[in-house]
Amino acid sequence: MTDFYDELAPFYHLIYQDWDASVRRQGEQLSKLIESEWPGHRSVLDVSCGIGTQAIALAERGYSVTGSDLSAKEIERAGHEARARKIDIDFSVGDMREAHALHGSRFDLVISCDNSVPHLLTDDDLLLAFRQMFACLRTGGGCIISVRDYALEARGKNLVKPYGVRTENGKRYLLFQVWDFVGEHYDLSFFFIEEDLSTLEVETHAMRSKYYAVSIDKLCELMHEAGFQDVKRVDGAFYQPLVIGTKATEQNRLPNRSEE
Ligand SMILES: C[S@@+](CC[C@H](N)C(=O)[O-])C[C@H]1O[C@@H](n2cnc3c(N)ncnc32)[C@H](O)[C@@H]1O
Repeated sequence: MTDFYDELAPFYHLIYQDWDASVRRQGEQLSKLIESEWPGHRSVLDVSCGIGTQAIALAERGYSVTGSDLSAKEIERAGHEARARKIDIDFSVGDMREAHALHGSRFDLVISCDNSVPHLLTDDDLLLAFRQMFACLRTGGGCIISVRDYALEARGKNLVKPYGVRTENGKRYLLFQVWDFVGEHYDLSFFFIEEDLSTLEVETHAMRSKYYAVSIDKLCELMHEAGFQDVKRVDGAFYQPLVIGTKATEQNRLPNRSEE
């Protein structure tokens, strides 16, 4: 999995038609949600920041942001992207399942966006990650997860997901994924066909990973089990469905299902 994102790091922005525009849009959308759900909350921990799409977006809007990710190459690029924009973000390499040991409990918000948590392949690992995110928050803090809605995705083999064509620096890139399901898990191959437009030389990059096509209902259930209150799915606020929850203050805290 680390290899997948280490290899993807230099190409990651190509997943988007226009990465800078997406950074701006995601910043607007996330800050609108934060202001409506947790007004005044400003310190953010992004536990799967990748090359910094949401971390940079929120820092550009004045949030104080800390970012970590399993992929050292993505963290290296995130640092480079932030410096190029003269933005100060504390980036480090780390596993979201160890987020509390890495970062402590000082955050107003914890985020993990763009379908990162389905890289955790079991319910036990997802629960562990949500418990760690919960532990990183101050009371009253909020958690935002963005994920694919796997209820809308067909199961099977040889499923092709086209991402389109991009051009930059005299090169053309054709991007597509191929998914092969086994039960509720799937192997993903991400192909980048790189064509040099002056020499017509072609190089194919293929990166492979595995995902758990976990349902949004299951994620809500696990977040609740991890201690979050007011757990809910939010549609239409971001380009993917969101699952959000709050670490309630003692007086607002309802018993969790396991305590009832
Ligand atoms: C699809 S990318 C999203 C990155 C970033 N949020 C963005 O939108 O640009 C998923 C990210 O999850 C990270 N990841 C996967 N498993 C992780 C784990 N256990 N702990 C921390 N990061 C993890 C990957 O390294 C990758 O950067």
